[in-house]
Amino acid sequence: MKPIGTPLSPSATRVMLLGSGELGKEVLIALQRLGVETIAVDRYANAPGQQVAHHARTITMSDPAALRALILAEKPDLVVPEIEAIATAVLEELEAEGLVRVIPTARAARLTMDREGIRRLAAETLNLPTSPFKFCDSLAELQQAIDQGIGYPCVVKPVMSSSGKGQSKIDDPAGVQAAWDHAMSGGRVGPGRVIVEGFIDFDYEITLLTVRAMAADGRVETQFCAPIGHVQVSGDYVESWQPQPMHHLALASARAIAKAVTDNLGGLGLFGVELFVKGEQVWFSEVSPRPHDTGMVTMVTQWQNEFELHARAILGLPVSTALKSPGASAVIYGGVDAKELLFDGVDEALRVPNSDIRLFGKPESFVKRRMGVALVFDADVEQARVQAKLAASKVKPRRV
Ligand SMILES: Nc1ncnc2c1ncn2[C@@H]1O[C@H](COP(=O)(O)OP(=O)(O)O)[C@@H](O)[C@H]1O
Ligand SMILES: [Mg+2]
Repeated sequence: MKPIGTPLSPSATRVMLLGSGELGKEVLIALQRLGVETIAVDRYANAPGQQVAHHARTITMSDPAALRALILAEKPDLVVPEIEAIATAVLEELEAEGLVRVIPTARAARLTMDREGIRRLAAETLNLPTSPFKFCDSLAELQQAIDQGIGYPCVVKPVMSSSGKGQSKIDDPAGVQAAWDHAMSGGRVGPGRVIVEGFIDFDYEITLLTVRAMAADGRVETQFCAPIGHVQVSGDYVESWQPQPMHHLALASARAIAKAVTDNLGGLGLFGVELFVKGEQVWFSEVSPRPHDTGMVTMVTQWQNEFELHARAILGLPVSTALKSPGASAVIYGGVDAKELLFDGVDEALRVPNSDIRLFGKPESFVKRRMGVALVFDADVEQARVQAKLAASKVKPRRV
């Protein structure tokens, strides 16, 4: 491996984060601790990660010309996508020209930037079990897909969206129009294509954090974190815990699926593989080639949290996925639309035994914007969940 240099000097190891939200912020902190020079990029100024990086740059990352110009000007050793809305064609060009290394690979960034690339790879190329699905470009096509096999209930999502935006469940024919309209208003790049998926009546869903890191012999080795259970409300994560107890056959299937997908995507780094589980049966749902929001729980449960694992893996360093203690996380929402917030009750939250808090420092709040997270460890994972929700509820954001 290339030695790590000295930040702010010609020998510096320079890493550029494309997206500097709460997850990017923690990756940046982990990189800072390893003496890496960091460049935090986001679409708005004072994003959480920009507050802890050596350099802050604000551009529209979906604009190919702007992205290319920035990467060529900064010449980072590594480009680390933290969000999906990136002009990934530029990353593929620069990687092909040998001008930059993209984490985990430019191809992985492209395949996971919308739901179609990754779903077709998983279901059609790798033959992994997924929900039945169809891609549709109009209300008529959506109705036809449902009538000709997907059936009810089903879930409709814009192909370009995250955190449940524009997503809805349809229970009967009366709901189709509303789901289509909702998807058209909630996508990332305006109106367009949707995926309709048969609804999976799972017992629980997990994120299996999977790390591809360099072994001593120079080969890439795959390691798994303990499974993370989570609850999503309207497609957005509200709480997570680790470990999620699993039947050993389900865990073996989950690992096999995660291995197949991450082997194909390749490169070095941590992946968040989302899976649905019913008894011994496991379905692949989606994958992030980067730390996952539900994995914030690892800040209190693992010796090396998911951000440290990602930072180490991408630098070619060894990792350990060992669990430190069971624990849980609960999201703190803004609760109000406001440019600036005051957070009351942080002291109360930290009085909850075994608790910790992250406030992300976002410059603007929305009612449903994630502004922080409460973390609690406890030998009893159910107790940790109760206490994490309690700690989160103590934090009361309000307008200045
Ligand atoms: N086919 C499905 N069956 C049942 N639940 C689903 C299905 N698809 C999505 N969900 C629920 O919605 C959540 C968000 O969907 P997901 O595809 O992960 O979108 P996002 O990219 O916005 O996270 C999932 O974690 C799951 O709880
Ligand atoms: Mg998801």
